[in-house]
Amino acid sequence: MAETVIKCENVYKIFGSNAKKMLQESNGDVDAKTFQKNGCIVGVNNASFEVSKGEMLVVMGLSGSGKSTLLRCISRLTDATGGKIFIEGQDLLQLNNKELIELRRNKMGMVFQSFALLPHKTVVENIAFPLQIKGIKTEDSISKAMDMVKLVGLDGRENYFPRELSGGQQQRVGIARSLAVEPDIWFLDEPFSALDPLIRKEMQDEFLRLQEKLQKTIMFITHDFDEALKLADRIAIMKDGIIEQLDSPANIVLNPATEYVRKFTEEVPREKVLLIEDVMDASKNDLGDLKVLKDEIIENVAEKILTQEKAVAVIDSKNEIVGSINPTKIINTVFGGRKNNN
Ligand SMILES: Nc1ncnc2c1ncn2[C@@H]1O[C@H](COP(=O)(O)OP(=O)(O)OP(=O)(O)O)[C@@H](O)[C@H]1O
Ligand SMILES: [Mg+2]
Repeated sequence: MAETVIKCENVYKIFGSNAKKMLQESNGDVDAKTFQKNGCIVGVNNASFEVSKGEMLVVMGLSGSGKSTLLRCISRLTDATGGKIFIEGQDLLQLNNKELIELRRNKMGMVFQSFALLPHKTVVENIAFPLQIKGIKTEDSISKAMDMVKLVGLDGRENYFPRELSGGQQQRVGIARSLAVEPDIWFLDEPFSALDPLIRKEMQDEFLRLQEKLQKTIMFITHDFDEALKLADRIAIMKDGIIEQLDSPANIVLNPATEYVRKFTEEVPREKVLLIEDVMDASKNDLGDLKVLKDEIIENVAEKILTQEKAVAVIDSKNEIVGSINPTKIINTVFGGRKNNN
């Protein structure tokens, strides 16, 4: 079992002057409407979960559901109203200012929804800045920053000021700046949403490549289910501050815990999420020659299976036949699942 890096226990964030008092009186049973009547806005409502080392947890949910607030609590940009947060076993709320700064500077990286670039510094200076704060020599920090400039495809623009860049370009500077520090724990709040589709895809690929290599512990917010599926080890779906479900992508689509999650995942192309073993039959009779691995994503082998007349053997990594799948099943999964709710 991988080591737990982030742990939240009954975390609440409630905005409003008497938030603490109301939370205490509610005994943890927070009703957003009642709180609102009393001048409090519920940002995060009783969140408990863990993220392991090297894991990427993607947080989804409609606008206002509390995604950014949750991240801000864990990075302690804001103080949770209740509950406990542990980073590598350290109680976040017990840290003093110095320890907190230390943690942020050396352990955590953040990319925000808004770009938060320094307007009077150039692209390369913006990226080098956090390195210089860490005490790295100017020359080395600039050289590292230039590597990052190239990585995010901004070479040639390194001496521009933020105002001379498009939104997507500014976001890339933000990503590069955060990457330069090589944090162990990385919080990304819709980092790619301002990018156009092509660059977005490139950044996702690059991000996955980096993650493969660096094995950071990541919490990543996105509105885009395709992006979530591409990146996530697990997905958390939030509604009104509550984590309605935190599960593997396949389980979220196959076994939605609530009606909201079901609605949320209705449009998700099932073939991108489900594995062959999720939909295969137990029968091992009358199989054709083709074999597919049970843990292939359906999308990757669908075409191959559709060209077959007979059922296709499903094998495990030891080449043992564990079941079968026929072309009709593929068609049902790809075209049948989304409209009716099966
Ligand atoms: N500083 C604040 N003061 C009062 N209410 C706040 C504050 N910050 C956030 N909220 C409220 O908390 C709730 C959650 O906001 P949050 O920004 O976390 O949503 P989100 O899921 O990140 O939305 P989006 O997808 O639009 O970024 C919202 O109702 C919001 O109005
Ligand atoms: Mg947000």
